[in-house]
Amino acid sequence: MTTATQTKPDQISTTMRSHHCNELRPSNVGEKVTLCGWVDSCRGHGGGLVFIDLRDHKGITQIVFDLEDTSDQAILDAADKLRGEDVIRVHGAIRQRDGGPNPKLDTGEIEVVAEHLEVLNKAIDLPYQPTDTQNLPKEEIRLKRRYLDLRRPEMQNIIRTRHRVAQSMRRYLDAMGFLEIETPILCKSTPEGARDFLVPSRLQPGEFYALPQSPQLFKQILMVAGADRYFQVARCFRDEDPRADRQAEFTQLDIEMAFVGVEDIISMASDLFRSIWKDVLDHEIGEIPTMPYSECMARYGSDRPDTRFDMELTDLSDLAAKTDFKVFTGTVADGGVVQAIVARGASEKMTRKITDGYAPFVQQFGLGGLPTVKMTDGAFTTGVAKFLAPIADEVKERLSINDGDVVFFGVGQEKVAQRGLGELRLKVAKDLDIIPEGKWNFLWVVDFPMIEWNEDEKRWDSLHHPFTAPNVEDLPKLETAPGEVLSQAYDLVVNGSEIGGGSIRIHSPEVQSKVFELLGISNEEAEVKFGFLLDALRHGAPPHGGIAAGLDRVVMHLCGTENIRDVIAFPKTQTGADLMTEAPSAAADAQLDELNIKSTYVKED
Ligand code: AMO
Repeated sequence: MTTATQTKPDQISTTMRSHHCNELRPSNVGEKVTLCGWVDSCRGHGGGLVFIDLRDHKGITQIVFDLEDTSDQAILDAADKLRGEDVIRVHGAIRQRDGGPNPKLDTGEIEVVAEHLEVLNKAIDLPYQPTDTQNLPKEEIRLKRRYLDLRRPEMQNIIRTRHRVAQSMRRYLDAMGFLEIETPILCKSTPEGARDFLVPSRLQPGEFYALPQSPQLFKQILMVAGADRYFQVARCFRDEDPRADRQAEFTQLDIEMAFVGVEDIISMASDLFRSIWKDVLDHEIGEIPTMPYSECMARYGSDRPDTRFDMELTDLSDLAAKTDFKVFTGTVADGGVVQAIVARGASEKMTRKITDGYAPFVQQFGLGGLPTVKMTDGAFTTGVAKFLAPIADEVKERLSINDGDVVFFGVGQEKVAQRGLGELRLKVAKDLDIIPEGKWNFLWVVDFPMIEWNEDEKRWDSLHHPFTAPNVEDLPKLETAPGEVLSQAYDLVVNGSEIGGGSIRIHSPEVQSKVFELLGISNEEAEVKFGFLLDALRHGAPPHGGIAAGLDRVVMHLCGTENIRDVIAFPKTQTGADLMTEAPSAAADAQLDELNIKSTYVKED
């Protein structure tokens, strides 16, 4: 048996090349080398001199075709015809760079004097030069020829970072005794709350597979099967509208452990993320704080609070009830709340036009309007100032108001007011540019309610998924006060973005049936949809729990991009299209016949 040696890819020379384009240094002067890559730029100086910047995945080396030195006229003519993105192979000797070093390049002290040139592939006239970052065309054009876009050093860096993150995750989990196990892609619907992608079965006419929204049920069954510690870098599919941090096809680092409680998963995943940030950014995250869901909502109006800045919500309902302002008093009398956030010292920047513009913004989140006041010379001014007169001193004190502060009021039912102010808090902070750069505020959000009331559908919905275990001490409340039952779920948040979530699962078939009943899932429906899981739970199921982290989102943070498409090699657009391969596309009638499918869709002209 042979043992694989640890060879760094940088050190591999192949039959086609001796070095990569970011490898040669003054110590190599005099050596003969062969390099391959793309023509990054080409400068003909006339008089028998052509300079090429040769680029590969590692960097750039200057090649000089010098008639006075070793290039003959034929090579010089060929070099003169080279254009950006042609693929070439060059052989020659390294010399100290004529005309002094180029500090912008790692290889800037040397150049290769070409003796041989082989054009491996001539590029046609390109729609744009991928490395001309000042003049990049719009994203659709770049996605159409993604291979050009991916050549950009910025994109190469993202791909590499993504690889390093995945390797760092694998190293950590392997060392901790986790097994990497694949689960099916063609499977039965899994309940993560989104719409399924369906795949028709040819062998079982009229039947469909669903693509997994996550490997949730399989990983639970792996625990029943005795795997003890599982992970997978798993592709997940959810047919929902893409957003800046959401794709229909995305990747999770999916984890499950047997015989664990909440604190075990939190401790393991905290360590995992500490090791990723250390590996990739050499940054120490330190201890990750924990905050109950109710506190997150009360202080930040969000279950994934960005704790890098303050501007917390304050409840003023008791004071608001003492005013003559009907909007306040009516809402409080109706069981609603009046809450506020304060943009400190923002009075001058926040013109009337800007503050007025925030009203339609919060309306999207269900608030009726946005009463606003400013503090000038110790008094509330503008907006609803006159209504605050009877409570002005108390409001000032509770909000610690100073001159120049702007106060926004969220008025409505508690959830609506919190959400509206939570979203406004983020918008105002961005507009005022007060979110500090370079901070990594990790946070575990815990003690989620197990279910929430869906007013539109008049039923209880799971906050996570229906397999999430209730807190043991809340079990009796399942029947008496289900809305108060907290779950053993947890989310990991960084800088206001949810990068992971999971829970301890229900491992008792009786509790699982009770929860299904609460969610309005009948026994028959449960058997049809999840019968295999319920069956497994009756065959000796260990207590178990896990977590899934969004790999794409983790890489977005580590690379500092706000567009999820940047971190996926071949992403989909807003309309779910792959512009390069032109998927999705119509299927041939013969293919549909084989699947017993007839399309009723008529294309509009
Ligand atoms: P959840 O649905 O919370 O949990 O997903 C886990 C994490 O996956 C990421 N994520 C997404 N990333 C990009 N695009 C999307 N459409 C998308 N949806 C989710 C988020 C999220 O925190 N089976 C459970 C996990 C468990 O209970 O163990 C699950 O999938 O970062």
